[in-house]
Amino acid sequence: MRHLAVIMDGNGRWAEKQGRRREFGHREGAENLRTLCVLCRERGIPYLTVYAFSTENWRRPKAEVGALMRLFSHYFRKYAREMEAEGIRLRFIGERGDLPADVVRTMEEAEESSRDRTELQLVIAFNYGGRREIVQAAQRAARDMLREGLDPSSLNEEGFSRYLYIDDLPEPDLLIRTGGEYRLSNFLIWQTAYTELYTEECLWPDFGAFELDRAIADYKTRQRRFGDV
Ligand code: IPE
Ligand code: IPE
Ligand code: MG
Repeated sequence: MRHLAVIMDGNGRWAEKQGRRREFGHREGAENLRTLCVLCRERGIPYLTVYAFSTENWRRPKAEVGALMRLFSHYFRKYAREMEAEGIRLRFIGERGDLPADVVRTMEEAEESSRDRTELQLVIAFNYGGRREIVQAAQRAARDMLREGLDPSSLNEEGFSRYLYIDDLPEPDLLIRTGGEYRLSNFLIWQTAYTELYTEECLWPDFGAFELDRAIADYKTRQRRFGDV
Protein backbone atom coordinates (compact mmCIF):
# COMPACT_ATOMS: atom_id res chain seq x y z
CA MET A 1 0.00 0.00 0.00
CA ARG A 2 1.35 3.35 -1.01
CA HIS A 3 -1.25 5.87 0.10
CA LEU A 4 -3.43 5.69 3.20
CA ALA A 5 -6.18 8.24 3.84
CA VAL A 6 -7.87 8.65 7.21
CA ILE A 7 -10.99 10.50 8.37
CA MET A 8 -10.08 11.10 11.99
CA ASP A 9 -13.61 11.18 13.41
CA GLY A 10 -14.97 10.75 16.91
CA ASN A 11 -12.90 13.14 19.04
CA GLY A 12 -15.97 14.88 20.44
CA ARG A 13 -17.75 11.66 21.42
CA TRP A 14 -14.54 10.31 22.93
CA ALA A 15 -14.31 13.31 25.27
CA GLU A 16 -18.03 13.45 26.06
CA LYS A 17 -18.00 9.78 27.07
CA GLN A 18 -15.62 10.75 29.85
CA GLY A 19 -17.58 13.82 30.83
CA ARG A 20 -14.92 16.10 29.34
CA ARG A 21 -15.21 18.99 26.88
CA ARG A 22 -15.02 18.23 23.16
CA GLU A 23 -11.82 20.29 22.94
CA PHE A 24 -10.11 17.73 25.14
CA GLY A 25 -10.94 15.09 22.55
CA HIS A 26 -9.43 17.21 19.80
CA ARG A 27 -6.20 17.51 21.77
CA GLU A 28 -6.00 13.76 22.24
CA GLY A 29 -6.87 13.29 18.59
CA ALA A 30 -4.02 15.52 17.50
CA GLU A 31 -1.63 13.56 19.72
CA ASN A 32 -2.82 10.38 18.08
CA LEU A 33 -1.85 11.66 14.65
CA ARG A 34 1.75 11.48 15.87
CA THR A 35 1.25 7.82 16.65
CA LEU A 36 -0.24 7.16 13.23
CA CYS A 37 2.74 8.77 11.49
CA VAL A 38 5.12 6.48 13.37
CA LEU A 39 2.99 3.43 12.53
CA CYS A 40 2.91 4.34 8.84
CA ARG A 41 6.67 4.81 8.73
CA GLU A 42 7.20 1.44 10.44
CA ARG A 43 4.95 -0.19 7.85
CA GLY A 44 6.64 1.48 4.92
CA ILE A 45 3.58 3.49 3.83
CA PRO A 46 5.02 6.56 2.09
CA TYR A 47 1.89 8.77 1.80
CA LEU A 48 -0.64 9.60 4.47
CA THR A 49 -3.54 12.02 4.00
CA VAL A 50 -5.71 12.91 6.98
CA TYR A 51 -8.91 14.93 7.36
CA ALA A 52 -8.50 17.43 10.18
CA PHE A 53 -11.06 20.18 9.45
CA SER A 54 -13.74 20.31 6.78
CA THR A 55 -15.28 23.32 5.04
CA GLU A 56 -18.48 22.31 6.88
CA ASN A 57 -16.87 22.28 10.32
CA TRP A 58 -17.27 26.07 10.50
CA ARG A 59 -20.91 25.33 11.42
CA ARG A 60 -19.76 24.22 14.87
CA PRO A 61 -19.95 26.51 17.92
CA LYS A 62 -17.48 29.38 17.70
CA ALA A 63 -15.61 28.22 20.80
CA GLU A 64 -14.92 24.77 19.32
CA VAL A 65 -13.77 26.21 15.99
CA GLY A 66 -11.50 28.65 17.85
CA ALA A 67 -10.02 25.81 19.89
CA LEU A 68 -9.31 23.80 16.73
CA MET A 69 -7.54 26.77 15.11
CA ARG A 70 -5.39 27.34 18.19
CA LEU A 71 -4.61 23.64 18.49
CA PHE A 72 -3.40 23.62 14.89
CA SER A 73 -0.59 26.13 15.35
CA HIS A 74 0.32 24.82 18.78
CA TYR A 75 0.65 21.29 17.42
CA PHE A 76 3.07 22.13 14.62
CA ARG A 77 5.24 24.20 16.91
CA LYS A 78 5.31 21.40 19.46
CA TYR A 79 6.24 18.64 17.00
CA ALA A 80 8.35 20.51 14.45
CA ARG A 81 11.64 19.03 15.68
CA GLU A 82 10.32 15.50 16.05
CA MET A 83 8.89 15.52 12.54
CA GLU A 84 12.18 16.79 11.22
CA ALA A 85 14.04 13.94 12.93
CA GLU A 86 11.61 11.48 11.39
CA GLY A 87 11.93 12.88 7.89
CA ILE A 88 8.27 13.84 7.56
CA ARG A 89 7.33 16.17 4.74
CA LEU A 90 4.22 18.24 5.46
CA ARG A 91 1.70 19.49 2.96
CA PHE A 92 -1.73 21.03 3.40
CA ILE A 93 -4.80 20.88 1.22
CA GLY A 94 -7.85 23.11 1.60
CA GLU A 95 -8.82 26.74 1.28
CA ARG A 96 -6.34 29.00 3.03
CA GLY A 97 -8.18 32.24 2.28
CA ASP A 98 -10.65 32.03 5.17
CA LEU A 99 -8.15 30.79 7.77
CA PRO A 100 -6.55 32.90 10.52
CA ALA A 101 -3.24 34.45 9.43
CA ASP A 102 -1.17 32.56 12.01
CA VAL A 103 -2.58 29.23 10.82
CA VAL A 104 -1.63 30.04 7.21
CA ARG A 105 1.84 31.13 8.35
CA THR A 106 2.26 27.85 10.24
CA MET A 107 1.31 25.93 7.09
CA GLU A 108 3.69 27.85 4.86
CA GLU A 109 6.59 27.48 7.28
CA ALA A 110 5.98 23.77 7.79
CA GLU A 111 5.78 23.14 4.03
CA GLU A 112 8.83 25.24 3.28
CA SER A 113 11.06 23.72 5.97
CA SER A 114 10.06 20.12 5.25
CA ARG A 115 10.19 20.23 1.45
CA ASP A 116 13.23 17.97 1.08
CA ARG A 117 12.20 15.23 3.51
CA THR A 118 11.40 11.86 2.06
CA GLU A 119 10.49 9.33 4.78
CA LEU A 120 6.78 10.07 4.88
CA GLN A 121 4.60 12.63 3.15
CA LEU A 122 1.90 13.76 5.52
CA VAL A 123 -0.91 15.65 3.81
CA ILE A 124 -3.29 17.41 6.16
CA ALA A 125 -6.71 18.42 4.88
CA PHE A 126 -7.56 21.56 6.80
CA ASN A 127 -10.51 23.72 5.79
CA TYR A 128 -10.83 21.14 3.04
CA GLY A 129 -13.94 20.28 1.03
CA GLY A 130 -13.94 17.94 -1.95
CA ARG A 131 -16.59 19.93 -3.78
CA ARG A 132 -14.73 23.16 -3.16
CA GLU A 133 -11.57 21.57 -4.52
CA ILE A 134 -13.33 20.43 -7.69
CA VAL A 135 -15.12 23.74 -8.33
CA GLN A 136 -11.91 25.63 -7.77
CA ALA A 137 -10.06 23.30 -10.14
CA ALA A 138 -12.79 23.80 -12.77
CA GLN A 139 -12.47 27.55 -12.47
CA ARG A 140 -8.72 27.48 -12.89
CA ALA A 141 -8.92 25.08 -15.82
CA ALA A 142 -11.55 27.27 -17.52
CA ARG A 143 -9.43 30.36 -16.99
CA ASP A 144 -6.39 28.71 -18.58
CA MET A 145 -8.41 27.45 -21.53
CA LEU A 146 -9.90 30.89 -22.14
CA ARG A 147 -6.50 32.51 -21.99
CA GLU A 148 -4.96 30.00 -24.36
CA GLY A 149 -7.98 29.88 -26.66
CA LEU A 150 -8.42 26.13 -26.11
CA ASP A 151 -11.54 24.08 -26.81
CA PRO A 152 -13.04 22.89 -23.46
CA SER A 153 -13.44 19.41 -24.91
CA SER A 154 -9.63 19.13 -24.98
CA LEU A 155 -9.71 18.79 -21.17
CA ASN A 156 -9.64 15.16 -20.02
CA GLU A 157 -9.56 13.51 -16.57
CA GLU A 158 -5.81 13.54 -16.35
CA GLY A 159 -5.58 17.17 -17.40
CA PHE A 160 -8.29 18.15 -14.95
CA SER A 161 -6.67 16.38 -12.02
CA ARG A 162 -3.62 18.61 -12.44
CA TYR A 163 -5.72 21.48 -11.13
CA LEU A 164 -6.50 19.77 -7.80
CA TYR A 165 -4.65 20.96 -4.68
CA ILE A 166 -1.99 18.26 -5.05
CA ASP A 167 -1.30 16.57 -8.37
CA ASP A 168 1.80 14.47 -7.70
CA LEU A 169 0.49 11.84 -5.26
CA PRO A 170 -0.96 8.44 -6.14
CA GLU A 171 -4.66 8.08 -5.35
CA PRO A 172 -5.41 6.63 -1.90
CA ASP A 173 -5.40 2.82 -1.82
CA LEU A 174 -7.30 2.59 1.45
CA LEU A 175 -9.52 5.09 3.25
CA ILE A 176 -10.17 4.45 6.93
CA ARG A 177 -12.91 6.31 8.76
CA THR A 178 -13.01 6.00 12.54
CA GLY A 179 -16.07 6.70 14.65
CA GLY A 180 -18.35 4.21 12.94
CA GLU A 181 -19.85 6.39 10.21
CA TYR A 182 -20.19 5.18 6.61
CA ARG A 183 -19.78 8.39 4.65
CA LEU A 184 -17.09 10.52 3.05
CA SER A 185 -18.27 13.87 4.49
CA ASN A 186 -16.85 15.67 1.43
CA PHE A 187 -13.33 14.20 1.79
CA LEU A 188 -11.28 13.52 -1.38
CA ILE A 189 -14.37 12.83 -3.47
CA TRP A 190 -12.45 12.94 -6.76
CA GLN A 191 -9.41 10.95 -5.58
CA THR A 192 -11.33 8.09 -3.92
CA ALA A 193 -13.16 6.91 -7.06
CA TYR A 194 -11.41 3.53 -6.75
CA THR A 195 -10.18 3.64 -3.17
CA GLU A 196 -11.04 0.76 -0.83
CA LEU A 197 -13.23 2.00 2.01
CA TYR A 198 -13.04 0.80 5.60
CA THR A 199 -15.02 1.94 8.63
CA GLU A 200 -13.60 1.39 12.10
CA GLU A 201 -16.01 1.55 15.02
CA CYS A 202 -13.52 2.91 17.51
CA LEU A 203 -13.24 6.66 18.06
CA TRP A 204 -10.18 8.43 16.65
CA PRO A 205 -8.20 8.92 19.91
CA ASP A 206 -8.44 5.15 20.52
CA PHE A 207 -7.15 4.16 17.07
CA GLY A 208 -3.77 2.43 17.31
CA ALA A 209 -1.51 -0.26 15.87
CA PHE A 210 -4.06 -3.04 16.41
CA GLU A 211 -6.82 -1.20 14.54
CA LEU A 212 -4.47 -0.12 11.74
CA ASP A 213 -3.18 -3.63 11.18
CA ARG A 214 -6.73 -5.00 11.19
CA ALA A 215 -7.70 -2.47 8.50
CA ILE A 216 -4.62 -3.30 6.40
CA ALA A 217 -5.30 -7.03 6.73
CA ASP A 218 -8.86 -6.44 5.52
CA TYR A 219 -7.56 -4.33 2.63
CA LYS A 220 -5.28 -7.16 1.57
CA THR A 221 -8.28 -9.45 1.08
CA ARG A 222 -9.93 -7.02 -1.33
CA GLN A 223 -9.90 -7.65 -5.02
CA ARG A 224 -9.31 -4.36 -6.81
CA ARG A 225 -10.72 -4.73 -10.29
CA PHE A 226 -10.85 -1.09 -11.46
CA GLY A 227 -13.74 -2.01 -13.72
CA ASP A 228 -11.91 -4.97 -15.28
CA VAL A 229 -12.91 -8.61 -14.72
C1 IPE B 1 -13.37 14.80 14.30
O1 IPE B 1 -14.03 14.55 15.49
C2 IPE B 1 -12.55 16.06 14.35
C3 IPE B 1 -13.12 17.18 13.60
C4 IPE B 1 -14.18 17.12 12.85
C5 IPE B 1 -12.45 18.44 13.74
P1 IPE B 1 -15.46 15.15 15.80
O2 IPE B 1 -15.28 16.46 16.47
O3 IPE B 1 -16.30 15.19 14.58
O4 IPE B 1 -16.01 14.10 16.83
P2 IPE B 1 -17.50 13.54 16.91
O5 IPE B 1 -17.81 12.93 15.58
O6 IPE B 1 -18.39 14.70 17.21
O7 IPE B 1 -17.44 12.54 17.99
C1 IPE C 1 -15.48 14.75 9.05
O1 IPE C 1 -16.07 14.56 10.28
C2 IPE C 1 -14.44 15.83 9.15
C3 IPE C 1 -13.26 15.50 9.93
C4 IPE C 1 -13.02 14.39 10.53
C5 IPE C 1 -12.28 16.53 9.97
P1 IPE C 1 -17.42 15.26 10.71
O2 IPE C 1 -17.70 14.87 12.10
O3 IPE C 1 -17.34 16.72 10.44
O4 IPE C 1 -18.47 14.63 9.69
P2 IPE C 1 -20.03 14.47 9.80
O5 IPE C 1 -20.57 15.81 10.19
O6 IPE C 1 -20.31 13.43 10.82
O7 IPE C 1 -20.46 14.04 8.44
MG1 MG D 1 -17.61 13.81 13.76
